[in-house]
Amino acid sequence: MKNNIIPYVNLSSQYKNERKELLPIIDEVLSSGNYILGEQVEKLEKNIAEYIGAKYCVTLNSGTDALLLGLHGLGIGKGDEVITQPNSFIASASVIAHIGAIPIFADVLEDQSIDPKEIEKKINKKTKAIMPVHLTGRVGEFDKIKDIANSYNIPIIEDAAQSIGSTFKNVKSGLLGDVACFSTHPLKNLNAMGDGGFLTTNSEEIHIQSKLYRNHGLENRDKCVFWGSVSRLDEIQAAILNFRFKKLDKLISKRRKNAGIYYDMLDQNKVLLPKQRSYSEDSFHTFVIQIDDREGLASFLKKQGIGTSIHYPTPIHIQPCAKYLNYKLGDFPKTEYQSKRILTLPVNQELSFDEIKMVSTKVNEYFS
Ligand SMILES: Cc1ncc(COP(=O)(O)O)c(C=O)c1O
Repeated sequence: MKNNIIPYVNLSSQYKNERKELLPIIDEVLSSGNYILGEQVEKLEKNIAEYIGAKYCVTLNSGTDALLLGLHGLGIGKGDEVITQPNSFIASASVIAHIGAIPIFADVLEDQSIDPKEIEKKINKKTKAIMPVHLTGRVGEFDKIKDIANSYNIPIIEDAAQSIGSTFKNVKSGLLGDVACFSTHPLKNLNAMGDGGFLTTNSEEIHIQSKLYRNHGLENRDKCVFWGSVSRLDEIQAAILNFRFKKLDKLISKRRKNAGIYYDMLDQNKVLLPKQRSYSEDSFHTFVIQIDDREGLASFLKKQGIGTSIHYPTPIHIQPCAKYLNYKLGDFPKTEYQSKRILTLPVNQELSFDEIKMVSTKVNEYFS
């Protein structure tokens, strides 16, 4: 199949631009002989904690593990209920199940963020955490979620996998809840060249628990205080992330500018865009539009050499793995409706303004 002229992601182009600077950095790590829990990991944790304004950052081997260790740090366990949204990536719910708890879904608002009113309907004595997902790099109606969490005394775990650099009322995602969990998967805005992730928190307890958990529960080489696991970010990935961290704000700013072109150019009578809000700054991990005839537009764009994607076509509550939870089609009308209408347009920082303009023109052309 012919490559897209305007690819949805372009990781090889990112590497090509950084190769000269990056290879000596990787070589230095390889030459040091220190590959696990060394100075690159420490530096990255410091960089991220400072960037977010959190007291602590613990780097881990994936965003999935960040969620798992975040739940562990909050003391979530067997039989507890955790409320999250059904339109997320599967990991948001799978970690809840893996820790022995029960994923409870709440439907979403028009902008795909969790609906605070739906959260409140699901709260009962077993509810032990609320997990809003900052899907697309946009924080939902967080103050309302926080009010509910406070009034029921329930902690919030942010699934911030997609939202490094996003803000809500001048507070960065990562500092909004009790613990926040990020992914540095290659497709994320701050991306490693393999799996990676981290959590941020102001809680010393969660910080200590997570550092132990990622290293077998070992307090020192010979003393294990609980059954942990292995979830360490390696030094090579940490070095790559430290290098890319320096460019993060510039990268997000380019994505915002790319998104700005879509806001200016797309025919908003035909295409629903996430409402722009004066009190938040989205990081545009993805740029998701909602439209009639999603398949028609996607295949039209494909023929023009424009790559798109869908995040995510099958809601979690109707996935085969969730069958035992006894949800059915019709339980979350907004999520289900949107799952047939959402389409992710290319917004990556490697794309020029002309390329984004061309995508906009083609989308408008399809509807005209
Ligand atoms: C919303 C969300 N949560 C969790 C994850 C899991 O992160 P990772 O792939 O690093 O395990 C992802 C990654 O795609 C995600 O998008």
